[in-house]
Amino acid sequence: MMNLMADRLRELPPYLFARIDRMKSEALSRGVDVIDLGVGDPDVPTPAKIVDRLAAAAREAGSHHYSSYSGIRKLREAFSEWFRDRFAVELDPDGEVLPLLGSKEGIGHICFALLNPGDEVLIPDPGYPVYTAGATLAGAVPRYFPLYEENGFLPDGESLQKLVTAKTKMLWLNYPSNPTGVVAGVEDYEKGIRLARKGGFVLCHDAAYSEIVFDGKKAPSILQVPGAKETAVEFHSLSKTFCMPGWRVGFAAGNRDVISALAQVKTNLDSGIFLPVQEAAVTALRECREDVERIRAVFENRRNRFVGALNGAGWKVAAPPATFYVWMKVPDGSDSMSFTSRLLQECGIVSTPGTGFGPNGEGFVRMSLTLPEDRLDKAIERLRRLR
Ligand SMILES: Cc1ncc(COP(=O)(O)O)c(C=O)c1O
Repeated sequence: MMNLMADRLRELPPYLFARIDRMKSEALSRGVDVIDLGVGDPDVPTPAKIVDRLAAAAREAGSHHYSSYSGIRKLREAFSEWFRDRFAVELDPDGEVLPLLGSKEGIGHICFALLNPGDEVLIPDPGYPVYTAGATLAGAVPRYFPLYEENGFLPDGESLQKLVTAKTKMLWLNYPSNPTGVVAGVEDYEKGIRLARKGGFVLCHDAAYSEIVFDGKKAPSILQVPGAKETAVEFHSLSKTFCMPGWRVGFAAGNRDVISALAQVKTNLDSGIFLPVQEAAVTALRECREDVERIRAVFENRRNRFVGALNGAGWKVAAPPATFYVWMKVPDGSDSMSFTSRLLQECGIVSTPGTGFGPNGEGFVRMSLTLPEDRLDKAIERLRRLR
């Protein structure tokens, strides 16, 4: 058959999760009781208030129309208010905030807004694979900076500086981090902002897990750094904060010119978020503070239970300070992919090999605690037997 694929698709790295999906399907077809700790898809139901608002709004006259491209003003205002309460940062709802069809959509599209073919993008390794996919699809070149355990999985300023060239157009940071679960401080963001201002490029900060932080701590926003808006945008997501992964709502916030360029791409490619979903997102941002606390507590208890039980059984697992991911060193010294296969073959557990997040993820696996406690207990039971 004629090959119809665009060259840019061939440039994309193989989608590892597809291989894992195949392995999972094979195990299921053999009748294995598979425990899927692979994808980070929160299982906690969306708070009832949000669902009720969606249902009511869907029945309101006019709810089936196209939305305006930049979303309803009430939603942009609700996000600005939420941001002020949470981070003490003012955002102009008319220019510094843009609703997204989930933050992944914005992370992909911002590359089309800012990158020319041949431009370079600095990307954390390990990191969320969409930074690479977005850059590659836009014809840009990913340049990876390693995150080492000995540096607390934070970037090393000097090595990062060495990667900056005249072609650098964008730097990605992501804290709390997927996959490492690490939280950065304002001082870490200051270093990134200084670098971006000096190099004249845009710093994109992915804050999808900003509210899933444990031990009574809070993650800062990069926009708290004085002058950040001159060079930075931050991505937020309702998927994890309010357990709304399938609803597809997120936000970009920060530098006006970048927000406007992203809005221009989106105006040409999508027609906004379903209006009742926007209404429900307003309810989430304005009325669900206690639900956020409850959701956070669920994931914190799971972390304590899972990591505590594994360490009690002789594993050496660090408790993640944030996110619902356990970023675990492969205990038997084998490579990530072999250990992932072994977990599936011998324990019926789906995990993600560290290499799915970049070459520097070798030697790690990620387990996502997005299943109810009884399933996690079952996983622990099986992991105990593996040793
Ligand atoms: C680091 C990170 N950023 C962004 C996203 C995308 O989230 P959403 O598109 O649901 O807002 C995810 C989803 O897993 C993620 O892990």
